[in-house]
Amino acid sequence: MKICVVGTGYVGLVTCACFADLGNDVIGVDADADKIKKLHQGEIPIFEPGLKELVDRNRGKRLTFTTDLKAGVQASEFIFIAVGTPPRENGEADLTAVKQVAAGIGQNLNGPKIVVDKSTVPVGMGDLVASIIEEHSAHQNKVDVVSNPEFLREGSAVHDFMNPNRVLIGTNDTGAAERVSELYAPLEAEIMVTDLRSAEMIKYASNAFLATKITFINEIANLCEKVGADVSKVAHGMGLDSRIGPAFLSAGAGYGGSCFPKDVSALIHKAEKEGYDFRLLKAVVAANQYQKRSMLARIKEVLGPLEGKQIATLGLSFKPNTDDLREAVAVEVIHLLQENGARVRAYDPAAMKLAAKALPGVKLAENAYAAVAGADCLVVFTEWNEFKEMDLARVKSAMRTPVIVDGRNIFDPQKVKALGFKYRGVGRK
Ligand code: UGA
Repeated sequence: MKICVVGTGYVGLVTCACFADLGNDVIGVDADADKIKKLHQGEIPIFEPGLKELVDRNRGKRLTFTTDLKAGVQASEFIFIAVGTPPRENGEADLTAVKQVAAGIGQNLNGPKIVVDKSTVPVGMGDLVASIIEEHSAHQNKVDVVSNPEFLREGSAVHDFMNPNRVLIGTNDTGAAERVSELYAPLEAEIMVTDLRSAEMIKYASNAFLATKITFINEIANLCEKVGADVSKVAHGMGLDSRIGPAFLSAGAGYGGSCFPKDVSALIHKAEKEGYDFRLLKAVVAANQYQKRSMLARIKEVLGPLEGKQIATLGLSFKPNTDDLREAVAVEVIHLLQENGARVRAYDPAAMKLAAKALPGVKLAENAYAAVAGADCLVVFTEWNEFKEMDLARVKSAMRTPVIVDGRNIFDPQKVKALGFKYRGVGRK
């Protein structure tokens, strides 16, 4: 099938590569000429396992890239909108890019199209996209707007796209639903067809629920510390209940990233606009903010005053297997450490290039062992496998004082204590 994907960010580029690999002709469109030039040369602008291989396999054959929206629209039956919806100051989603693309689609229509929205947009945006397209098109063409939210996670995006829990198709037109279902047929996934607005809400509700689930276990973790329980065991026991499930119950330094913080704020804002006070989500935002900052308290608890202390931090991105620093807990806490007079030496397996810009004043180490050399404390912010597998005896001998603050509970407290470390995790005494 002929597909155009507008926006070659995380979701857009993965969508391009995966649909091409499934045998479709895909044109990726982006207004950023530099990005398109790099994509032509096979340069992938983001760190995402498996993505480069997929792009390389299809590039120049079933997968092409252009800045020319008209060419993409006119060559395709399906036009996916996958542009960003970043947060505004007040938490509301900025829909400028989506609106611009909708206008561009309208101006360049050359026949009937199915416009599929993959960007995360507030409920009602699909209807607005349809009216913008109509407003900008000179001729009468049948255009169906379908909501098809993406549920992939950074770091496992290709796998998640190819193995979805469900494919969600939101439209009031059965013909369009069938056509979009055909696109996903090779994945053999459960397909749920619903109305446009419910699909838009499912995306926000899912992210908000997951953020709430993480925040809930973080709150339980904080309480575990006070009562002498171990949150890993508590989460395991809770997760065995099929009504709860084990996923997204890892307590830690709080959630970050380009999705949860933005989408939770956007849902609160949308609710407010509709005259509804979403009390629970407001509490989630506050509790997550507390959780991130509690890392500073944990470090102070084991180190005392931070003035002049040397801190090694491992993991800078908001989660492992990505270089994405957006809303990364590490970045926020490192700023707090610096404000408190500490010197920071950091290492991340993927995000060093971006970190050099985002973290002025922070020394960047070549590897984890170089980061801990001479340090008074090691702080773990993300659970990369290479951190879990570190030789802790070597770490101890390299540090000035053997202290670990483990923001993702990657180490076994008994083992690190037996090695002579002072250890502080989250939700375990
Ligand atoms: C999230 C959702 O999981 C995806 O389904 C969704 O498609 C995506 O947002 C989006 O809307 O685009 P992502 O932000 O890439 O995906 O990553 P997650 O794996 O969900 O992690 C988000 C944050 O939660 C990270 O900071 C992670 O460390 C934290 N987290 C996650 C926890 O603290 N505990 C957990 O148990 C799980």
